[in-house]
This record gives sequence, structure tokens and C-alpha cells, in this order.
Amino acid sequence: MNRDEAWSLVQSKVTNRNLQKHMLATEACLGALAARLGGDEAIWRLAGLVHDLDYEQTKDSPAQHGLMAAEMLAGQGVGLEVTQAVKSHAGNAPVESLLDKVLFAVDPVTGLVVAAALMHPSKKLAEVTTDFIMRRYGERRFAAGANREQIATCSSFGMTLEDFVSTCLSAMQSVSTELGL
Ligand SMILES: [Fe+2]
Repeated sequence: MNRDEAWSLVQSKVTNRNLQKHMLATEACLGALAARLGGDEAIWRLAGLVHDLDYEQTKDSPAQHGLMAAEMLAGQGVGLEVTQAVKSHAGNAPVESLLDKVLFAVDPVTGLVVAAALMHPSKKLAEVTTDFIMRRYGERRFAAGANREQIATCSSFGMTLEDFVSTCLSAMQSVSTELGL
């Protein structure tokens, strides 16, 4: 499945624009992290782009989240590495491969970065710095939905929290137009 096909599929299954943006942000982060950690960039980006494909269909049945997406992807020539990561990020398969671990840790970071942009006086992602995010990271009310324990699992692939947040921030800044930030 090439990028255009994947994006068309996302748009056909996901109607919420913010959720689409979350998937675009995850794609960008996975791309940057593949380059950093020696992953296959095209495969990692694809996993990020499609990871919440079934979110709207499974929001009332979380036990199906990821599994339904894997089914949607199975007939489309998407490799096992991607479907496995999609299932495991939702907690419905074990987190095993490096890609599984990275997707799991990245998922909540995008919310953290978006929250930082929205609370920045400029409201612009371009103006946000890693320092700005890290100063607020410990405040429970800042990006309350962004699970800190999950983000901290970046240590399982050898990245410090600051390095991880910084890499994701730069990746999201590179697609700020698409993200509307
Ligand atoms: Fe997600």
C-alpha cells in the first residue's frame, strides 16, 4: 500500500478532522524516529498514518480497537509488521518489536505537542520549544489526556524523555501546515 492509498483509506474511515491530524502527526513522528533508530521509514510512517483507522468504529468496544483496523488493512497488502504495531498500540496484542514500542510511546506525545502549541502565546507550533513543553510536563492539568507513563516508555528504546519529545516536536513542526498549527 503506498502513501496515497493509505491516506485515502484513512479519509474514508476517519471522519473527525482532529483524529486525521493526530494520525498525520503520528506518521511524521514515526518517520523521524525511523531515521533516528534505524527503522524502515516507509513502513514506520505507514504504521503511524493508519494506526487509529478503526477508532470511530471501535470507540464503544475498545477490545476491538486495533484488531478491526488490522482486518481492514489485511486485504490491502500491508505487512504483518504494521498490523502487529496497530494491534499492540491499542493494547490488544503484546508490544514486542521496536516499531510496536515506538508507536506505543509516540501515540500520546502528539497530544502533548498540540496542547503546548495551543497554550503558547503565539498559538504556533513553530514557536514551541522542547523547553516550553518540558517545563509544563509535570503539571497534571497540562495535556491531561497524554499518558506520561506511556510516553516514558521511550526509555525502552534508549531515548531520554527530552530527546524523544524534541524529536517528535521537530517532526510535527515539519507538517505544521497539514496540522493547521
Ligand atoms: Fe492514536
